[in-house]
Amino acid sequence: MHLAAFLNAGPQGTVGWRHPDAGTGFLTAEHYVRIARILEDARFDMAFVPDSLAVPRSLGGSFDPAVRWGTGTPRLDPLPVITVMAAVTRHLGLAATASTGYQQPYNLARTFATLDHLTGGRAAWNVVTSFQDAEAQNFGQDALPPRAERYGRAEEFLEVTTRLWDSWSDEAIVHDRESGVFGRPDQVEAIDHVGEYFRVQGPLAVPRSPQGYPVIVQAGASPSGRDFAARWADVIFCSHESLESGIDFARDLRRRVAERGRDPRQVKILPAVTTVVGKTTADAEAAHRAFADLVTPEAGLSRMAYHVNVDLTQYDLDGPLPPLAEVGVEGHYREIVEFAEREKLSIREIGRWYGARTEGNMVGSAEAIADTMQQWLEAGAADGFMIQATHVPGAFVDFTERVLPELRRRGLVPTEYAGTTLRENLGLDRPERGEWRNRAASTAPVGVGR
Ligand SMILES: Cc1cc2nc3c(=O)[nH]c(=O)nc-3n(C[C@H](O)[C@H](O)[C@H](O)COP(=O)(O)O)c2cc1C
Repeated sequence: MHLAAFLNAGPQGTVGWRHPDAGTGFLTAEHYVRIARILEDARFDMAFVPDSLAVPRSLGGSFDPAVRWGTGTPRLDPLPVITVMAAVTRHLGLAATASTGYQQPYNLARTFATLDHLTGGRAAWNVVTSFQDAEAQNFGQDALPPRAERYGRAEEFLEVTTRLWDSWSDEAIVHDRESGVFGRPDQVEAIDHVGEYFRVQGPLAVPRSPQGYPVIVQAGASPSGRDFAARWADVIFCSHESLESGIDFARDLRRRVAERGRDPRQVKILPAVTTVVGKTTADAEAAHRAFADLVTPEAGLSRMAYHVNVDLTQYDLDGPLPPLAEVGVEGHYREIVEFAEREKLSIREIGRWYGARTEGNMVGSAEAIADTMQQWLEAGAADGFMIQATHVPGAFVDFTERVLPELRRRGLVPTEYAGTTLRENLGLDRPERGEWRNRAASTAPVGVGR
């Protein structure tokens, strides 16, 4: 069972900052250093930092609710945050979110290859296509481009990035002091890419990094998002409202991966879970109720509107949620619909639930939570989990002190790091130079069982 930790570079969750055990230092390096140490001591595979390139404005077209309730804002830049965490750890993998919508592939290829060198192969990139109009409006656009266009650009972005990572062979540096020869030009090549969105000559100014490609994480849940993930992702991050939808999602994704000619075991699926642990189930439920009471309906609505990129104030908030045509995060919208159809609640009530829920709540004793995690693993819905703390560092401490010993007792998680790189710890092969051809949409699939 692989373990990753979902950590905002800002206040955690919707109301995590209000919790009495939440740290207040999310604008300081010490906060991230402390959490990095907790996670490495507990032998987490990876810390994962999400991102947003705007102060959310979805609710009522204003940033007022986001600022007032601290939903989705503030957000520090994840890249310096994980760099700070890298400097105080030796094994922990470090994933930063970066959007293909508003960057150039050369910049991101360079940044992540640099991080992979500096960390000895512990870097990961969560590839997102972004989902808010407010983000597009910070980069010269009127609104979020349609999904097909976002994924079209992302596809070309990944092709260029991986080709740049492959532009140096692993043998390119000779470093021969005697002869004065530093490198072998025949082991370095330009990419000369001319496409719809990018023109990039290459080569990259950073040699091939310890992992070949930093680990690629993806969380798209729409059909285009799943195809994109099946081609490019090493790790898939998702969230579900029930075990059944988790099983369906994993089955569908593994099928898409195999159709692409990739080995489905080389793609790790990590559903998000929020664990609230108590001595007994009743204790845990009481702790979760106390946490849920911190959520104002407005804060919950603000978070929901931010994730679906729809101004919910255009509807009667005391009526049912109508079907939404084009949403921001398809995965979160599916969970909302599944919950709303089951519970028959108004928009306002759904918002309140959504604010307190974070993703995939598991509320109970350590044994009960371990049972559920084991069930997801054995049902094929997960290769591990993204632990999404309600508040930090408190909920990570609760998880590592209470749930982790129970998972260890069952032999479900290793007690030592298996290797030195994140790929080794996740059981992922290091890509050969030229692997991009097996993944890119512009090249033919090479067939199952390659
Ligand atoms: C659990 C989860 C976490 C996500 N985290 C982020 C994030 O931190 N930043 C971001 O811009 N998008 C995030 N996304 C959005 C997606 O990765 C994706 O780019 C977006 O949802 C559009 O793709 P889709 O419609 O295929 O889901 C997340 C999605 C899910 C399901």
